[in-house]
Amino acid sequence: MGENSQWWRGAVIYQVYPRSFCDTNGDGIGDIRGVIKKLDYIESLGVDALWLSPFFKSPMKDFGYDISDYRDVDPIFGTLEDFDELVAQSKSKGIRIMIDQVLSHTSDQHAWFTESRQSKTNPKADWYVWADADSDGNPPNNWISIFGGGAWEWDEGRQQFYFHNFLRSQPDLNYHCPQVRAQILEEMEFWLKRGVDGFRLDAINFCYHDSQLRDNPFKPEKERTGRGFSSDNPYAAQYHLYDNTQEENLEFMESIRELLDRYDGSVALGEINSETSLKTLAEYTQGNKRLQMGYNFELLADEFSSNHIKNTVNELEAVIGEGWPCWAVSNHDVTRVVTRWGTGEHRNEFAKMILAMAASLRGTLCVYQGEELGYTESPIEQHQLQDPFGIEFWPEFKGRDGCRTPIAWNRDEPLAGFSDKASWLPVAKCHIDNCVEVQDANPDSVLNFYRTFLAWRKGEQTLLVGDIEFVDAPEQLLVFKRTHNAQTTLAIYNLSDQPLVWRCNSNIKPLPSSPSQGVENLNGELTVSKFGFGYFSI
Ligand code: BGC
Repeated sequence: MGENSQWWRGAVIYQVYPRSFCDTNGDGIGDIRGVIKKLDYIESLGVDALWLSPFFKSPMKDFGYDISDYRDVDPIFGTLEDFDELVAQSKSKGIRIMIDQVLSHTSDQHAWFTESRQSKTNPKADWYVWADADSDGNPPNNWISIFGGGAWEWDEGRQQFYFHNFLRSQPDLNYHCPQVRAQILEEMEFWLKRGVDGFRLDAINFCYHDSQLRDNPFKPEKERTGRGFSSDNPYAAQYHLYDNTQEENLEFMESIRELLDRYDGSVALGEINSETSLKTLAEYTQGNKRLQMGYNFELLADEFSSNHIKNTVNELEAVIGEGWPCWAVSNHDVTRVVTRWGTGEHRNEFAKMILAMAASLRGTLCVYQGEELGYTESPIEQHQLQDPFGIEFWPEFKGRDGCRTPIAWNRDEPLAGFSDKASWLPVAKCHIDNCVEVQDANPDSVLNFYRTFLAWRKGEQTLLVGDIEFVDAPEQLLVFKRTHNAQTTLAIYNLSDQPLVWRCNSNIKPLPSSPSQGVENLNGELTVSKFGFGYFSI
């Protein structure tokens, strides 16, 4: 292992959703050249790596999470040459590139599926999950799709059903088939050879399904929580014991790691969403033979309280062992954090406090484009909907368009500098008022806070790799210690919009040059203003 190999511990990874980042060819959809154009901006944030959401060939039914060719760039995003240039330019700035790999399913337009559906005997006949109808002509079991309806689609040609966890145009690959596993590893290696530093592995615990196709048990109402999907979604009414997170998948994680270990410093961050996500995350990242990091949805949920954060972290710490978590409070699938957790008041203070908190938990952090600008969820009307998930469940669930609207760069340019001609989703008015240009010029902006905070954090070993321990404090005041090599940092956050007072029993001193907001320390009696926070040595 080279000295490079541990860069990801405590790193900050910036998620770019390229459709909405910057459009350079006027088609209203962001592209790879747009990411290249804004690399100086990304560099200015002080992040370690960039995670690029899918840019591969795709019919775009799920906006790129439905891949029809793993080895090519979709023309709406550019070309392989553009991608190579992005890799070269990012590297020259010291920013690593991680790309999304959507391995559990392909698009129904993928050549593998076209071949597989031809017959029951063709060379790729077993590459997808095919099953006969039961004696009444019904699907083989009760599995349902996250995006609505049953998880089985009838195929006239083969006279069989195929399985899809997501859209019916996203058939699941059959990982019980050894040729599929071998082929997928080759698809991944294609990008490692092109110089990527690693992968975000989409829905990675969804690769395998139960080979006996057993029914999922019914889940009572009180147990239904939404992790990236609403608790009203029928999907929430089952325990997903058999359609994902099968034991066999761990061996496949090890094969992925073997591949990564041949490319020094390359890593995998697995997106994990199971019935016991934190336990699964620990399993998937255990030892040095599996994935390096696991991404979870616990802080992407609606629930917001110091107890929720504390319980989540403690639950994870109890099982994590040598594994490693990655936290996120926003992404392209959930309502933006300032809207989801905020009260609407003092939005900028709230956004700063949340970043500071999330970036101080033990683990790596993913920051989703726009989060560094304190973006709220954009209002989306029904006629503007693009997301198939929102179209299916409107109005109970409005889909994911509100967190995917384009970045507003310049106040006075058409479409706020996102594109000079069009925009696939509207650029939100509230974001234009708060655009990059405006925030750049304001030393107190959320954007400038991010830059300062991340620059400071880089030098704080306790925050990067230290152990974590929570400290008892009044409700809504989240207090924890991070300790590394006999050095301890005490971190406190007021999650509420009311000032809180807390007497700290230890002798504490403000950490030199640490960012803070609204904290006063009178001989250990701390007054923390609404959404205030601070860092102390102890
Ligand atoms: C991605 C979603 C996508 C789904 C299906 C998720 O976990 O983040 O955006 O729709 O996988 O690929």
